[in-house]
Amino acid sequence: MSKPILVAVAWPYASGSRHIGHLAGAYLPADIFARQQRMIGNQVLMVSGSDVHGTPITVRADEEGVTPQDIVDRYHSEFVRQWDELGISWDLFTSTGTKNHSEVTQDMFMRHLENGHIDRRVSEQFYDPQAKRFLPDRYVEGTCPYCGYSEARGAQCDNCGRTLDPIDLIDPRSKLSGTTPEPRETEHFYFRLSDFQDQLEAWLKTRQGWRNHVLNFCLGWIEEGLHDRAITRDIEWGIELPINDLGEGKRIYVWYDAVIGYLSASKEWAASSGDPEAWRLWWENPDAESYYFVGKDNIPFHAIFWPAQLMAYGGLNLPTNVPANQYVTFKGGKASASRGIGLTIQAALDSFEPDAIRYALAASFPEQADTEISDEEIARRVNEELVATWGNLVNSVLAMTAKNCDGHILEPGHYTTEDEALLEKVDAGLVEAAKQFEAVELRAALRSAMSCAQAANAYLNATEPWKMIKVDQERGRTILHVALSAINGVRVMFAPFLPFSSEALSGVLGPIEGWQRSELVTGTPISKPAPLFAKIDLNEAS
Ligand code: MF3
Ligand code: ZN
Repeated sequence: MSKPILVAVAWPYASGSRHIGHLAGAYLPADIFARQQRMIGNQVLMVSGSDVHGTPITVRADEEGVTPQDIVDRYHSEFVRQWDELGISWDLFTSTGTKNHSEVTQDMFMRHLENGHIDRRVSEQFYDPQAKRFLPDRYVEGTCPYCGYSEARGAQCDNCGRTLDPIDLIDPRSKLSGTTPEPRETEHFYFRLSDFQDQLEAWLKTRQGWRNHVLNFCLGWIEEGLHDRAITRDIEWGIELPINDLGEGKRIYVWYDAVIGYLSASKEWAASSGDPEAWRLWWENPDAESYYFVGKDNIPFHAIFWPAQLMAYGGLNLPTNVPANQYVTFKGGKASASRGIGLTIQAALDSFEPDAIRYALAASFPEQADTEISDEEIARRVNEELVATWGNLVNSVLAMTAKNCDGHILEPGHYTTEDEALLEKVDAGLVEAAKQFEAVELRAALRSAMSCAQAANAYLNATEPWKMIKVDQERGRTILHVALSAINGVRVMFAPFLPFSSEALSGVLGPIEGWQRSELVTGTPISKPAPLFAKIDLNEAS
């Protein structure tokens, strides 16, 4: 039975180049999961887009003396090109700068307001008298009131992960003038998050199969008591309010609008598919499932605020799972685009093949804990695992088959128990990997594939077809047939991870037919193959 599966992926700020921490944190796991879901026959809708609002964009534009739109255009086109080069299989990668997104956001705002979940309040915000501007979010830096980290930025502390109100920062500094800002009164709309305290707690406590670190983080937050949150800012860049109650110079805040992108992108996709109502299949159907792929810093926005926004709206599906990843670290520090730490996606693409990047990152996905990634580790994984275990296996079996089997797949002879054992191991690996995919344990699924490739190598070492072919041609050919059959199953498990080499292999063995090892087709021509992957020489790459 085919299930509708929404694969919702964190919207990257179009404020700068993204790094491989983002790739390993959200985009790549989402793509691998989506590809496997399609292979098992589910109906996947995978959406995201550039997050074009918020102070990350305007701070960058101020620094460069250009408009926010200039910044957005530059990085949006960079993202689109990189997704293509990396094989990220979006159904739609749009942006929060569309008219559709504004309308969907304003509709949700009006519904929240009418339902009494939004109200108006006067509060103090920092104001820079020199720049004559309020200082929302990243325009203020200072010391985190929770953990004492001295480089905390207005909206969130990069050290302890808490979301902050800039007014609470200790020793605040204006990013515009460097001076100490002064508090001033200003009026804003607030989302009454505290109304959902009990409902969110009850919902979170009944989630099955969520990662422990995600659930613990959320329940910890909720235990401390949820606070109502301002959802507008004194800023010129952002979605306009649908009602003009607060006067000029106020916009909807990025964190209220960005998560609505999942819904607006689904509607945009539906409209362009020719059936404007098609989005309902993923959002209103109780059998549909939704998976939100985000990094650790995005957990509160996807597992608390967005579910509350959905509860307050009514009638739309809550997340099935938020399989958030922890951080990728470089030499012990968290990768950060705005701080220039870690390999950018572009630098990775300049040095390594896309499947090599995908393999090395997937093998180190920070699913449970922060995980260190370096160029050396990428090279080691690719050379010692991907090339040595999988690439060489495929290459040598295809080459021996081409040479010893009249250039095509022959009818095999009788299978020994050894032969049966290898194929059973591969079939069991497929079942195991399917379970791991279902639990979004992608690292484990990749290990299942690898261990089957290792078993095939061990089988070849034990049966030595290169010797057998000379003494007993029939048996030698059967061994090659069994090894190629094993490869035909293992490639299925690798396909979501390695789309480019998988495509190349399909050119030889034919297309993959679902999540199973299909029988080889007798008569298929096999010629001497080109290697699936190149070895990495770091001295050459850099
Ligand atoms: N642009 C933000 C970030 O990169 C938010 C991403 S997820 C969203 O952290 F859904 F909220 F947009
Ligand atoms: Zn902190």
